[in-house]
Amino acid sequence: MLKVVWAALLLMANVCVQRVQANESQEAKGAPKLGHVSVVIVGATGDLAKKYLWQGFFHLYANQVSSGYTFSFYGGGLSPKDKAAPILFEALKRVSCPRDLSEERCALVKEQFLKLAEYRQLKTVEDYQALGKHLSEHPKGEGIAEAGRLFYLSVPAFAYADVAEKINASCRPAEGVWLRVVLEKPFGHDFSSAQLLSAQLASSLRDEEMYRIDHYLGKQVVSKILPFRRENSKHLDPIWNKHHIERVEIVLKETLDAKGRIPFYDQYGVIRDVIQNHLTEVLTLLTMGLPANLSDAKEVLKNKLKIFSALEHLESHCAVIGQYKSYNEEVEQELNKTKGHYSLTPTFAGIMVYINMAQYEGMPIILTSGKMLDERLGYARILFKNDIFCVQKHDSVHCKPKQIIFYFGHGALQYPAILVSKNLFKPDLMDTEWKEVTEQKDINVLGMPISNYYILTPMVQREAYAELISQIFQGRKDSFISAENLLASWGFWTPLLHSLAKAPPRIYPGGVENGNMLDFKLLGRKVTFANDALVFINQDFTGGSGGQSFQVMQGKYRNNDMVSAWSEELIVRLADDLQAAAEKAVRESGRFHLALSGGSSPLALFQRLAQHQYTFPWRDTHVWMVDERCVPLTELDSNFRTVHDHLLQHVKMPYFNIHPMPVQMNQRLCVEEDGGALLYEREISQLVNGSRFHFVLLGVGHDGHTASLFPGSKLEAHGNSLVALTESPAKPHQRMSLTLRAINRAQKVAILTMGKSKHELITQLSRVKDKPNSWPVTGIHPTSGTLVWYIDYDALLG
Ligand code: BG6
Repeated sequence: MLKVVWAALLLMANVCVQRVQANESQEAKGAPKLGHVSVVIVGATGDLAKKYLWQGFFHLYANQVSSGYTFSFYGGGLSPKDKAAPILFEALKRVSCPRDLSEERCALVKEQFLKLAEYRQLKTVEDYQALGKHLSEHPKGEGIAEAGRLFYLSVPAFAYADVAEKINASCRPAEGVWLRVVLEKPFGHDFSSAQLLSAQLASSLRDEEMYRIDHYLGKQVVSKILPFRRENSKHLDPIWNKHHIERVEIVLKETLDAKGRIPFYDQYGVIRDVIQNHLTEVLTLLTMGLPANLSDAKEVLKNKLKIFSALEHLESHCAVIGQYKSYNEEVEQELNKTKGHYSLTPTFAGIMVYINMAQYEGMPIILTSGKMLDERLGYARILFKNDIFCVQKHDSVHCKPKQIIFYFGHGALQYPAILVSKNLFKPDLMDTEWKEVTEQKDINVLGMPISNYYILTPMVQREAYAELISQIFQGRKDSFISAENLLASWGFWTPLLHSLAKAPPRIYPGGVENGNMLDFKLLGRKVTFANDALVFINQDFTGGSGGQSFQVMQGKYRNNDMVSAWSEELIVRLADDLQAAAEKAVRESGRFHLALSGGSSPLALFQRLAQHQYTFPWRDTHVWMVDERCVPLTELDSNFRTVHDHLLQHVKMPYFNIHPMPVQMNQRLCVEEDGGALLYEREISQLVNGSRFHFVLLGVGHDGHTASLFPGSKLEAHGNSLVALTESPAKPHQRMSLTLRAINRAQKVAILTMGKSKHELITQLSRVKDKPNSWPVTGIHPTSGTLVWYIDYDALLG
């Protein structure tokens, strides 16, 4: 006990002397004014604060206690003091010491730290006014000048604008004293919400006062990417390009689920949670031009923005998404959803990104992350092309993959490191804070024994938050996200997020059981899962033994056959059935006549067909249109244009096998006397045996229309025609369509219906009798063929 008191006195004496000395020497150098710093964590008892922030501020305090600054720490929150203060102090007591501090000294510093901390309820304007007053008076009372105020907002994003406004109104310090406000992601949900949030914050805080944190930028390996590239530029400059790099992979694998965070996570999903920010930041650091001064925030930003502006636009086919099996149950529980609610939020994503710059053109960059995977691991790997063909001794180092791995931590290695294949070059040691690892344990990193790499690691491992907190304290902004950076990133990700909004994720079981079901492959600019899904679904639709999982359900709908599954499997099944029909027709008659509709439902089918084109008899297939809008075929509205863009342009088939509807004749659209409908009918009669298509693919609209046969159109007026001009209630009103007669002559008719928005229609249709004039789809009855309804679970079950 005596020892502790004595040490405390020594520490205090030491602090006083050092404060004076530091003050003098700092002022002499014109450095920032020393004095009192108030730290306020708003959201002080939340998860993040308890896990990382207090720890980070304790390290800051421990490092600065002898530097001439004095501190006070305020934990703020909405709860009253008597409830929250004990929780705060429990968290504070748990902070651990920096590695370079002796146990004895740490105990003293910690005791001081606890004394300097207090809880304050921060709910109302008055609470903030009282805090503001206290922050000014407290240093005065102690006879110390104020140096700065640091507010850390660890609160849900919707509260940012309000808290920032209160800080601005009541807690702004006097002239000459700095104000720094730290914000945690999420900074918005997409481009426009991020823009709105930026504008709201800008009305309370100046840009230089805001520190938007991305904790990945505080990870030691991530912050060493640019210095590593600089130090090793002699080796890297010649090979850091599309000619030498095969691909780049930026990966964050997690074993944890999203339990406990569902109210946040379900609105965000994996792309917004970690890809839009953490992994994208790593991407920019790997690919940006090296700034002359690595710590010049403006130059770093300028070079980052160049990369953002060169990123190729992403569409849904650039990504695969998945969701772990028990996620939906967690959503039901945490969001109080009824059974049968299906969240489409992805917990896994694999995305392919390209940069449209001479240096990187055509070089794939894979970004991938997922919850409930087999291991916790984060890394960025640059895989170089290896042009050596090994005839013998495949084990020798020059036959191995050439790669540089920025290993963020965890995984087999368990420590952050930069690994360079020995067949590339020996990296320079960057500075005294890094060392080369020489011990060679029997470990594999990404498939290669670590003895094949040169390995660099930091001398002392530091927590990302502690690192960034120390930078905020120093007023260094180069590792923070500026508003421009943020908006550029959202600008890039938002179109993909919107195009995936309704896409059903592949369900995966979680952990090692995922096997290879999340592996994905690159097909040109597209990404697909490498293996067909073995589907795990959350509900047992059969009503039979609970928990049973199955792929596709067969049943009856409106007295016809029905196939039902999750949309992804449904499409696979429909594509298989279509291919079987094509092969049969080609075997029997040398031709396959396929009539396709437009609309959004068949897009996924077209995509699947395009991807598996090599096994399909396209050479002998004739493609016809079920219906067409009376617009030029080159317009985006045109059904033919849709079929062309999503299917025809990707498959190899003779041009003369493609039969668009002649909606444009004599430079006008769908004019009766031009006889377009008749012309198409004649073409069908000449080429299609008995005018019986082998396969007709239909959809059904919310009003029960199919092809371009709408409720209220007098279908009997079509008589014996196979093709007719029709009217749609929606624009463009004029249409050309196969008639019921033409459709009902077909050998196989498939009606594809997908998505929750079709659930009501499917329910209604299951009840109505055949009334083709009110519900045209109910007039589909192939006279000597078959009709199959393909309905996904969303449409079937809502
Ligand atoms: C956070 C995400 O930003 O990053 C979490 O919200 C994720 O969902 C975490 O688990 C990953 O960070 P780290 O440092 O553990 O890789």
